[in-house]
Amino acid sequence: MGKLAKKSEILYHIGISANMLKGAKYALLPGDPGRVEALAKALGTAEFLGSHREYTSWLADLEGTPILICSTGMGGPSVAIGVEELARLGITHFIRVGTTGSIQEKVNLGDVVINNAAVRLEGTSGHYAPIEFPAVADLQLTNALVTGAQKAKVKYHVGISISSDTFWPGQERYDSFTGYVPRRFQGSCAEWQQLGATNYEMEAATLFIVAQSFGLAAACVCGVVAKRTKSEKVAEKAIYIKASAAFEATVKEALLLLTKK
Ligand code: URA
Repeated sequence: MGKLAKKSEILYHIGISANMLKGAKYALLPGDPGRVEALAKALGTAEFLGSHREYTSWLADLEGTPILICSTGMGGPSVAIGVEELARLGITHFIRVGTTGSIQEKVNLGDVVINNAAVRLEGTSGHYAPIEFPAVADLQLTNALVTGAQKAKVKYHVGISISSDTFWPGQERYDSFTGYVPRRFQGSCAEWQQLGATNYEMEAATLFIVAQSFGLAAACVCGVVAKRTKSEKVAEKAIYIKASAAFEATVKEALLLLTKK
């Protein structure tokens, strides 16, 4: 067990204290602060806890179990800072919920991808574990997400994410300011496809490694908002709404299973 904060201590970045969490052990981690309220209210009655920088927090009551929903912003560094502080408040189970770009033909817009592992195409996790160490999701949380997706009748895939520090070069996008992708990444998308990875996003690998290095559990479910076998573009709002509804229903069912008394 690591070092817990005093119950009344407001942690510097996330701006909340353990006293506010009513003993919550599970946290949902969307990237977008604007997604937190809707996610919380989808679980049950919910209260606003605080908002500081990219970290907006609500506490939801899921049939008597407190669940924290705390945004992390985009990319590894802010995930690592958030998880460090949430762990000190007593959170032991972290589920990232977000959006992603699929790289396989069979993974369609609006589906969800549950990541059982992630490629560490980012820098933050290297501060926690050597690069040879694999970024793997917790099996119990991942299985609950799979059952959750089945119960919610959501089209889902299980696979390996490419967690990239960048949206453009690291995900081999050419529709950028310069249009240039450094040699290191030219052809990388085809290689990940060939290796059977399912999707690009920006946080799973950091989350998996940081949680593992703390002896805590993490998993990831993302809604597909870009289909890279067709286009580099992110799809229209209607797809985003469909994908959000799919990951919301999946995590709700998963949390009901995990917290059943
Ligand atoms: N998030 C990403 O990181 N990449 C995408 O293509 C879509 C969402």
